[in-house]
Amino acid sequence: ARQPKLVVISNRVATFGPLQPKTGGLAAALEPVVERSGAVWMGSSGKLGDGSEPLDIGQHGEGQVAKLDLPREHYSGYYEGFANSILWPALHSLPDRMAASANHYKSYQEINKFVAGAAFQFRDRDAIWVHDYHFLPLGAGLQNLGVDKPIGFFLHTPWPAPDMIEQVPNHGELMQSMLAYDLLGFQTNWDLNNFRACLRTHLGLEIEHGVVISARGHTRCQTFPIGIDPKQFARNASESLAKPDPYISSLQKKLNGAKLAIGVDRLDYTKGIDERIKAFDQVLAAEPRSIVLLQIANPSRTEIEAYKIYKRDVESLVERVNDKHGTNEWRPVLYENSPFTQAQLAGLYRAARVGVVTPLRDGMNLVAKEYVAAQDPNDPGVLVLSKFAGAAEDFDQNEALLVDPTRPDEIAAAISKAANMPREERVQRWRAMMDKLEAYTIHDWSAHFVQELDKSRVTVRATC
Ligand code: G6P
Repeated sequence: ARQPKLVVISNRVATFGPLQPKTGGLAAALEPVVERSGAVWMGSSGKLGDGSEPLDIGQHGEGQVAKLDLPREHYSGYYEGFANSILWPALHSLPDRMAASANHYKSYQEINKFVAGAAFQFRDRDAIWVHDYHFLPLGAGLQNLGVDKPIGFFLHTPWPAPDMIEQVPNHGELMQSMLAYDLLGFQTNWDLNNFRACLRTHLGLEIEHGVVISARGHTRCQTFPIGIDPKQFARNASESLAKPDPYISSLQKKLNGAKLAIGVDRLDYTKGIDERIKAFDQVLAAEPRSIVLLQIANPSRTEIEAYKIYKRDVESLVERVNDKHGTNEWRPVLYENSPFTQAQLAGLYRAARVGVVTPLRDGMNLVAKEYVAAQDPNDPGVLVLSKFAGAAEDFDQNEALLVDPTRPDEIAAAISKAANMPREERVQRWRAMMDKLEAYTIHDWSAHFVQELDKSRVTVRATC
């Protein structure tokens, strides 16, 4: 089939290479799309400018990465403000975490306009694929500039119910602008159903046969549950056995026969790390010294007050639990702030009997999938998974141990059950999950989206 020449746009672009730590699921997911398909991937350079700096373009595999200096004047209002202190908590149904300020929406719009202007130079490409909540109005901006190629959007986070979206300033205008996209992609049915309810409640529009018709034209709405490359992860995990990483070797010594549970997250209040540590406190009270929790917590969005407070809270909890159950030589919670490479993570997942993935709410959560892919087929570990992670639409209760992430007692019971589960049951559960991962990989996900987007080339778009 013909490969459309794509432009991919997201706020953050990946740092390429197997030895580079990945920041969040989005960057990890898009890397193979760009390396294999020859797409141009445009995103923030991480540097700020006055809006006049040229794009910094570099080659990566078949594709290119175009880094953009975002304007200093609006960056903080856009990134720390509207995107991450308003949209992020609202999209995760955590309204208490929202911190509104009057100018943030203006900055968000300005950055969207700026990025649309920069992307305009790629208008000769076949299609444009925009990612995530940073850029809800970007498609409208591109359309206003006269771009007439198919423009698709994929939301990596959840989409919440109408009463949550209502708390976002200018939510009606934002949703209107999303209808400039030809294709809107969501992770799960839960998200798509919420979006349907929001369109009905806030704009009086219906999705019929997967399409919403508005003044801006036709917008198709579909789910594309994001996956991983399970073979690659399994390979990384096996290689880690052949050439043990020094960190993993020293960890094995520290375990001294205890089982390992692992959590890997950005330090983000949506991830439920605090509830997980409280759960582990209960596990330790019931089964002292039989299990160690390795919690890898990568600092994230460190300029934002809510994240600073969350980091402090999690770290003091870890200390309390270690003081209560540990000794000078025995620390039952190993807490790491530094990033690990994909290869190291695969080895650590393989070494862990329990994968603990308990976000309060999550778009998909690729750690859950990576943990499964890294297991030894003959002696796999068990996934303890929040029922509010998108991945819980893929993995059911016969496969993962599904828990309410706000209930430490439930998480604790699941960790103990996982740690003591007979091998036969572990193998059965794992096989079912691995089959699903292999049936829809990250490569299928991107090919599926691009194929659907390409269909929009032939549909007539209403002009406005
Ligand atoms: C989530 C978001 C991504 C974001 C990542 C890391 O996965 O969906 O869009 O890139 O978090 O967050 P950051 O703010 O560091 O880009």
